[in-house]
Amino acid sequence: MSEEKLYLYPLWLRIWHWTNAFLFLVLIFTGLSLQYAGIESTLIRFDIAVSLHNIAGIILTISFVFFVFANRFTSNSNYYRIKRKGFIKRLLKQFRYYTYGVFIHEPTPFPVSQKRKFNPLQKLSYVMVMYLMMPVIIITGFALLFPEVNLENVFGIAGIYLTDLLHIVTGFVLSVFMIVHIYFCTFGKTVWSNFKSMFTGWH
Ligand code: HEM
Repeated sequence: MSEEKLYLYPLWLRIWHWTNAFLFLVLIFTGLSLQYAGIESTLIRFDIAVSLHNIAGIILTISFVFFVFANRFTSNSNYYRIKRKGFIKRLLKQFRYYTYGVFIHEPTPFPVSQKRKFNPLQKLSYVMVMYLMMPVIIITGFALLFPEVNLENVFGIAGIYLTDLLHIVTGFVLSVFMIVHIYFCTFGKTVWSNFKSMFTGWH
């Protein structure tokens, strides 16, 4: 692996990333509190959880739009481009490394360089999360905030119920992503090196 110092995480990206991570934690805690609220017992008082969830969701939307534009108009977008030819093969190679190679101290098949920040699995998961799941959770979130925009009836089921289901399922998948994401971030040079990079900008 290269020992060279690489500046891979510009300031805008670091600010977006940690704001996003913090808002995610707020949304998960308040979301779970709303989901499992009983008549008497709630993790966070119901009205407070609703307000915090709405406010965090709106700030998350603003920060997401900022990410999309900043990523579109800076060179960071190059890291999100998937070259289709041979991608499955590269994915499988990375998968084999994570499930086997890493445990027998094989060298990483896709070392980080100025041209390649992400391995194929990271690239796929970041693209799916940022350009598919984030839009879904944001759009369904707003549809729940303004219930009148929902279809009244979809094949005999209330539209708002389907919107809610999609919001909750996507929230669950994103929460699992976050846990897996943090786990894989420990696969750096040391356990902490990737986390340090996201603060300093330097890999
Ligand atoms: C406490 C929670 C989180 C921690 C500790 C964390 C940690 C990190 C670290 C260390 C990196 C740099 C290593 C790498 O590029 O893979 C990173 C990158 C990234 N994280 Fe997270 N993360 C968290 C939450 C999230 C969430 C909730 C999302 C999205 C929903 C997210 C999306 C990303 C993306 C897209 C990148 C790549 C950014 C780029 O370089 O263009 N992270 N994260």
